[in-house]
Amino acid sequence: MSIRFVDSTGQFVLETADTCYQMKVDEMGYLQHLYYGSKIGQNDMSYPFRTYDHGFSGNPYEMRLNRAYSLDSMAQEFTSFGVGDYRVTSFRASFSDGSRCAEFHYVSHEIVEGKYAIPGLPSVYDNGESVHTLIITLKDFAVNVEVKLYYGVFEELNIITRAVEIVNTGKDIVWLRKASSMCLELPFGKWDMIHFHGRHCMERQPERVPLFHGVHTLSSGRGMSSHQHNPFIILCDRDANEDAGKCYGVMLMYSGNHKTEVERDQFDGVRIVTGVNDDRFRWELTAGASFYTPEVILTCADGLTQLSHNYHRVIRRNVVRGEYKLSHRPVLINNWEATYFDITEEKVMAIAEKAKALGIEMFVLDDGWFKNRNDDNAGLGDWVPDTDKLPNGLDGLIAKINALGLRFGLWIEPEMVSEDSDLFRAHPDWAMTAPNRAPMMSRNQLVLDLSRQEVHDYLFATISGLLEKYNISYIKWDFNRSISDVYSHSIPSPRQGEVAHRYYLSLYKLYDRLTKQFPYVLFEGCAGGGGRFDAGMLAYSPQIWCSDNTDPISRLKIQYGTSFGYPACTVGAHVSASPNHQTGRKTPIHTRGVVAMSGTFGYELDLTALSDEDCAQIKEQIARFKELEPMIHSGKLYRLSRMSDSTHYVAWQYVSEDQDRALLNIVVTNPLANSAPVHVRLKGLLPDAVYSVGGEFECRGAALMSGGYTFPRLTGDYPAVQLDIIRIK
Ligand code: GLA
Repeated sequence: MSIRFVDSTGQFVLETADTCYQMKVDEMGYLQHLYYGSKIGQNDMSYPFRTYDHGFSGNPYEMRLNRAYSLDSMAQEFTSFGVGDYRVTSFRASFSDGSRCAEFHYVSHEIVEGKYAIPGLPSVYDNGESVHTLIITLKDFAVNVEVKLYYGVFEELNIITRAVEIVNTGKDIVWLRKASSMCLELPFGKWDMIHFHGRHCMERQPERVPLFHGVHTLSSGRGMSSHQHNPFIILCDRDANEDAGKCYGVMLMYSGNHKTEVERDQFDGVRIVTGVNDDRFRWELTAGASFYTPEVILTCADGLTQLSHNYHRVIRRNVVRGEYKLSHRPVLINNWEATYFDITEEKVMAIAEKAKALGIEMFVLDDGWFKNRNDDNAGLGDWVPDTDKLPNGLDGLIAKINALGLRFGLWIEPEMVSEDSDLFRAHPDWAMTAPNRAPMMSRNQLVLDLSRQEVHDYLFATISGLLEKYNISYIKWDFNRSISDVYSHSIPSPRQGEVAHRYYLSLYKLYDRLTKQFPYVLFEGCAGGGGRFDAGMLAYSPQIWCSDNTDPISRLKIQYGTSFGYPACTVGAHVSASPNHQTGRKTPIHTRGVVAMSGTFGYELDLTALSDEDCAQIKEQIARFKELEPMIHSGKLYRLSRMSDSTHYVAWQYVSEDQDRALLNIVVTNPLANSAPVHVRLKGLLPDAVYSVGGEFECRGAALMSGGYTFPRLTGDYPAVQLDIIRIK
C-alpha cells in the first residue's frame, strides 16, 4: 500500500518507488506538511521542525502562550486565510456575515484503491497499475466550508497528483475568490526555479532563476494557458543539472487562466501555490455545492532528465487517451505554409499526389476552405465549404484524396466567430463582449461564449455534423486569439467572475463528447502554434502544434524547452520551406527533417515546388521516421547540451525502452572555423552491451557513456547528423 496513516502520530506517509511525501495532523488539528523527497524508510520527518518564537508571527488563540506555534511559519498542505498566515494563500472567500477569514482543521480521511477523477475536469487516470487515492477532509466550522484534499499516488511512476474539492456545508452562499489546486512547501534548502516563458512563435523558453525573497508569480489571464507562461515549473537545487540534484516538478493540468505563486519567505521557506488564476475570479458556491479545482501533477527526481522521464511516461500513458495514445501517428502534409488562404482544388490535389508518391499518409486542409474565408477577417463560425475554391465540395475533394490512398484531415477554429459571419449576425450575444463597450479585437475575430449552453450545443452539433458528413480522420483544432472582454450575456452580473472557468468546463466537456463519439479521429490542439500546450489539452488531443515558428533552428530551442515536461509524441513538428517563412533563414532539408523527427513529424510546404534531390530526401526521411518513431515516441530522451551554454551545437539522444537502440542527433547552430571538436557523452545505454556506432565501429555502452563520441568537423549552413547506435551483442 503506497499510503499509510500512522494513528499514534497523526502522520500520513505516501510512498512511490523512489519518493516519499509526509504530512501530519498536529495537536491543533492543522494539516502540516513535513516532507517531499527521496524515500527515507520509516522515518517520521517531523523532527526537523523545532519551532521557536518568530517575532511578529502570531499564534492561534489556544496557543497564545506558546509563541513558537505560528501558522505564519508552519509548512502546510492547504493554507488558512486572514488569520495570521501572511504568505501566499491557497484559498480566499467572502462569507454572508462579511468576514474574510478561514482556517481548516482535520476532520477525517479515506484511503481508496485506484485513482480519483475530478467531475468536469481532465485528470491523470490509472491503467490498472498500482495507484491509491487519499482524501483528507478539513473543515472550518465557523464559516461551514469543507475542503477535501485529494492525493493520487502512482507508485511506479513516481507521480503524486493533487486536487481540491471545496464544499459549502452551510446554508448561506459562499463567494470563492481563490481556490488553488494545492499548496506545496519546501521548508528548507536553496532553490532555483525553472519556468517556461515565451511569446507567439517562441514558446516555452526555459529560464532558470534563483528564488529571491518575495513572491514570483507566473500566470496567464489571456483565457488560455498561453504562449507567455506555461503552467509548469521546476524547483531544483542550486547546483542541480540533468543528472543530479533534487528537482521538483509542478504541472497544472489546466488550459485556461492559471497562476503559480512561489514565495520565498522571511525564514527562507518556499511555498508554491498553483491553480485557477484568482484575478477576476469569483464563484458563487451555494449551500451544499462543491467546487473542484484542476489537478496538479507532481514529481520529485534526482536530476532534470529523470524529472522529464517521469513526466513523459505519465503523459504518454496516463494523460493522453484514445486510439492514438501509443500508436503510430500518420505522417501528414499540411497545406498552410504552401498555399495560405489561396486554396484551389487543383493546387491541393497536386500537393496530395506528390505527397502520396513520397510516402506521406494524410493530407490536412488548413484554414481557408470555408465560405467567405479569403483572409483572416471573415468567415469564422459558419463552417460551410467554399465551393468557389472547392467546386466539387469538401466531399468531392476528400473522395479524390482518399482515392489516392491518403487519409484526410481538416482545420477548424470552433471557439471563434467573425463579425462578418451568419452566426454572428444571428447571435451577436453569443460572442464575449462587455456591455456598452466596443470589444478588443484580435485577428479581427471574437471569442464565442462557450460558458453558454446554446453555444456548447451549437459547437457540438457543428463539429459532429462535419465528422458525420465527411470522411475526416484528423482535426486540427485552432484557437487564434487571447480572450478579452470576458462577459457572458447569459448569467447575472454577480456571477461574471465564473465565466472564464466555466468556459473551460464547457470546452473540456465538448472535447470529451466529441472524442467519445468519434474515437477514430485524431485531434491536434493548436492555439496560434503552442499557445495552449498543456496537460489539460493533452487529455483530449494526443498532439499539439508546438509553434507557428517552423524554422528548425528556432524550433531547437522551443522543442528543448517543451521537452522538460512533455514527450516528443505530443509535439507537432513539420518540415517547412527554406528560406523559412517566419525567420527567412535557409537550412538544409536534412536539418529540417532531423528537428521535425523529434515530434509527430509531418510536412508543411509546397511539395510541387521542390527539387528532385529534396524529394528523394523526403522519401528517405519518411521511411526513416517510420522506423524510428517507436523509439522517439516511447523511448527516453536525453538532452546532451544545454541551451544556456554558449556551444555552437545542440545535441540530444533517444534510447529505446529495451536499450537496444539509440539515436544521437546533433545540429550545428553556429558553424565555426577550426573549432574544438564536437564531443558528447552518450547516456542511457547498457554498459556491457556492444553497439554498432553509425555502422562505423563497435563499442561498449560503457565506453560511449564515459569516453563519448566525437563528431567529424561539421561545416556549412546549419548541418545536422543523426547517428544510429544499434546493439549487436
Ligand atoms: C494558426 C495556426 C497555423 C495556421 C493558421 C491558420 O496560426 O497555428 O498553423 O493553422 O492559424 O489561420
